[in-house]
Amino acid sequence: MILLTFVLLLVTFTCGARYSADWTSLDARPLPSWYGEAKVGIFIHWGVFSVPGFDSEWFWWHWQGEKPPDPKCVAYMDNNYPPGFSYPEFAPQFNAQFFKPEEWADIFNASGAKYVVLTAKHHEGFTNWQSPNSWNWNSVDTGPHRDLVGDLGEAVRNRSLHFGLYNSLYEWFHPLYLKDKQNGFKTQEFVLHKLLPELYNMVVRYRPEVIWSDGDWEAPDTYWNSTQFLAWLYNDSPVKDTVVTNDRWGAGCACKHGGYYNCEDKYTPGQLPSHKWEKCTSVDKLSWGYRRNMKMSDLMDLPTIIEDLVHTVALGGNYLLNVGPTPDGMIPVVFEERLRGVGAWLEVNGEAVYSSEPWRVQMENSSVPVWYTSKGDSIYAILTRKPPKPTVQLLEPKTSANTKVMLLGNLLPLSWSPIKPNAGLMIVLPELADTAGKAWTLKLDGVK
Ligand SMILES: *[C@@H]1O[C@H](CO)[C@@H](O)[C@H](O)[C@H]1NC(C)=O
Ligand SMILES: *[C@@H]1O[C@H](CO)[C@@H](O)[C@H](O)[C@H]1NC(C)=O
Ligand SMILES: *[C@@H]1O[C@H](CO)[C@@H](O)[C@H](O)[C@H]1NC(C)=O
Ligand SMILES: *[C@@H]1O[C@H](CO)[C@@H](O)[C@H](O)[C@H]1NC(C)=O
Repeated sequence: MILLTFVLLLVTFTCGARYSADWTSLDARPLPSWYGEAKVGIFIHWGVFSVPGFDSEWFWWHWQGEKPPDPKCVAYMDNNYPPGFSYPEFAPQFNAQFFKPEEWADIFNASGAKYVVLTAKHHEGFTNWQSPNSWNWNSVDTGPHRDLVGDLGEAVRNRSLHFGLYNSLYEWFHPLYLKDKQNGFKTQEFVLHKLLPELYNMVVRYRPEVIWSDGDWEAPDTYWNSTQFLAWLYNDSPVKDTVVTNDRWGAGCACKHGGYYNCEDKYTPGQLPSHKWEKCTSVDKLSWGYRRNMKMSDLMDLPTIIEDLVHTVALGGNYLLNVGPTPDGMIPVVFEERLRGVGAWLEVNGEAVYSSEPWRVQMENSSVPVWYTSKGDSIYAILTRKPPKPTVQLLEPKTSANTKVMLLGNLLPLSWSPIKPNAGLMIVLPELADTAGKAWTLKLDGVK
């Protein structure tokens, strides 16, 4: 009996847990730790949709898919392209002639992000690598004639950032998908002959450490074979120990099944969720893909981004910030400026962000909003506006004789006084440098 137990233990330890193709088993997999430590990622929406650069990455659908079509998209085509011009004719103009993956990776690294997620395939079905299942509708056969996924992956990893891939399960206009849909998803021709072979190929070839799944909502996970795919991913794939996935694996899965939760786009919970989550959002508030008619007023400014990031991290989330590159392979310089601004802020304040955990209290309203994070014995109070007076009151921390307060980026401890015995403190602030991010972090030790 003892021997048997020992053998069983040995088997468990040497092989690790095996997951079965059901949600109870898959949902119990612990998230690889790198993800929760990373906190900040960059999302990139890039594809044929970047060529019209109008409306959003949903342009094709709004022009020719939805009924009635969006009159703005119809007018854009009527006014700018010859009659009969079809969407696939945009592909040869997806040139990427200025695409320098090392330069992109340098910008992403300078943003302080620890992971990068690229659209390998969006709902239009165009793959940014030579998928054997997407003949002539991929970035090597046409357009850039280049392995965009592979080239960016190499540069990103070379800077020690994690590399992830976005993949849309459904494709708006794929004939096999439309056939399955017409059959009420009782057949799986698209899944068995297009989606799954392509997805396995993508994972084996590029070893993504995030699979950001999307386009799942029209059909149940049983149609997509999601649990079978995830069981393979977690048990036998080349990234089984490090990969993380989100929650978009079939109608009804969001916020319920998978790895971390995205719930909905730009999800912003009001209080601390019980499951690891990620907020994805875009610098261009109106689109994820590049828009040629983007205006300054359509963009999040840097203080808004920093506040959003801080709010997300204080509530235990990761922050995935999107930029849409141009079809010729440039990150619009205004996006680059935002990303470098985030990095400059994290350079000083990152200690309160990376590898942090939510604190007992996540926020309080003092004279300015205060967001809390914690790491080890330290807690961090992030002020997302400049206090009107050179003092700030924090009511939540319980002080002790050993309490010490620092301002990140400043060498001298700050003086403070208790508000009530062991409850709350009034901190005397030094001159707050007017950083572009407009948020400052107090580090408190010796408090509870
Ligand atoms: C990787 O980094 C090294 C040194 O930083 C550099 O010499 C090399 O060109 C880089 N390779 C790529 C693909 O970025
Ligand atoms: C990446 O960014 C970090 C922090 O901003 C910096 O210290 C490091 O030199 C950068 N690495 C590369 C390869 O550029
Ligand atoms: C898809 O799922 C069915 C069970 O629902 C299973 O029999 C089949 O082997 C799966 N196919 C793949 C390629 O995962
Ligand atoms: C702080 O104020 C904001 C805006 O008035 C409010 O939405 C939020 O609930 C307040 N938070 C706390 C913890 O009181």
